[in-house]
Amino acid sequence: MIEDLAPFYSKNARNIRSSVIRELLKLTRKPEVISFAGGLPAPETFPVEAIEEISCRILREKGRFALQYGPTEGEMPLREELASWMAASKPGIVPGNILITSGSQQGLDIVAKVFIDPGDIVVMELPSYIGGIQAFSAYRAKMIGVPQDNRGMRMDLLEKTLTRLAKRNKKPKFIYVVPDFQNPSGVTLTEERRRRLLELAYAHEVPILEDSPYRDLRFKGQAHPPIYRLDTQNQVIVLGTFSKIFCPGLRLAWLMAPVSWTDKMVVAKQSMDLASPTFNQLIAAEYMRQGLLLPQIEVIRKLYGRKRAIMLKALKEFMPKGVRWTKPEGGLFLWVKLPGGMNATTLFKSAIEENVAYVIGEAFHCNGKGQNTMRLNFSFPSEEQIIEGIRRLASVVRKNM
Ligand SMILES: Cc1ncc(COP(=O)(O)O)c(C=O)c1O
Repeated sequence: MIEDLAPFYSKNARNIRSSVIRELLKLTRKPEVISFAGGLPAPETFPVEAIEEISCRILREKGRFALQYGPTEGEMPLREELASWMAASKPGIVPGNILITSGSQQGLDIVAKVFIDPGDIVVMELPSYIGGIQAFSAYRAKMIGVPQDNRGMRMDLLEKTLTRLAKRNKKPKFIYVVPDFQNPSGVTLTEERRRRLLELAYAHEVPILEDSPYRDLRFKGQAHPPIYRLDTQNQVIVLGTFSKIFCPGLRLAWLMAPVSWTDKMVVAKQSMDLASPTFNQLIAAEYMRQGLLLPQIEVIRKLYGRKRAIMLKALKEFMPKGVRWTKPEGGLFLWVKLPGGMNATTLFKSAIEENVAYVIGEAFHCNGKGQNTMRLNFSFPSEEQIIEGIRRLASVVRKNM
């Protein structure tokens, strides 16, 4: 047997970074640990009975079809439902714009596979979604981070970055943004900045990748239009997913792009899984057809809105002076900044000893910075766990200040 496979690895495989998060998450599995580290939806929201009823009917009425391979683009009833779901924001979207994927994570992989050669530039927020960083680094992208503030990616700095690159005759392959209640920071890109982002993307002829799993989970405040709605030049690729508004276990999501752009993406997906599961797609399509998705989103919004309020109250009550955090108006996460000089990575060990866990902010920075930051999840822990967990975390921070 070949003991060491490493010499056989491709250059791309060698570049796949094992996620720091996954390593740290192993430590959080002890039952006594209160974990703010995962990004899991609350399982009590999963509509188990409705899925059971729909699944049985599909198996009874068209079981042999449901258990067969399907087209790579996805099942037409689901593409139709999603086209009208997305058309609520921008009329004119047709099933041809929609490619069903096995999770948005696959959408990221498809885009990376289609666009990125080794050394190609991808511009993204600082911090940004770790799964995006992982997908792009597997294709050996050179990632350039643009800092964000509490209104999202800073457009003055994006402009500087794009201008600097243009002077060197370099053009990014795309600009990756998570504009709504961003994972990890919970920050939302303002409408003014969305418009500016499009202007810059048009001026520099760079596509935008709008990854928005949390958009529908707004608890308060006014929604900003999705970037694709403001786009007049067909320059935006959108990733949407059922994971946070329905359930992640079906592994269903969608990629929306101009019709002429989707051909290559379909071929890219073909070699990944041929097609996403037919059965799951029929379940999701029927769930949407029955009008169950909106009420389901309402249930999730209420629960997460309450949990977010409890976490914010606990942070205010327990955290020592000098610690700051975002106050997201939706989504699953908030972002904590420790006073300069403190290091969330070294603090992690003490936190685990006190049976509380978070994700170190550094993991979300494509430039390796952000040592004094952490991401906290409020969707998964119970309300009691949130209060007790923040109390423990605050005590760890205070002791290490
Ligand atoms: C910004 C972002 N994109 C993509 C994903 C992947 O989602 P999916 O479960 O659809 O693969 C996540 C999951 O947390 C996410 O936060």
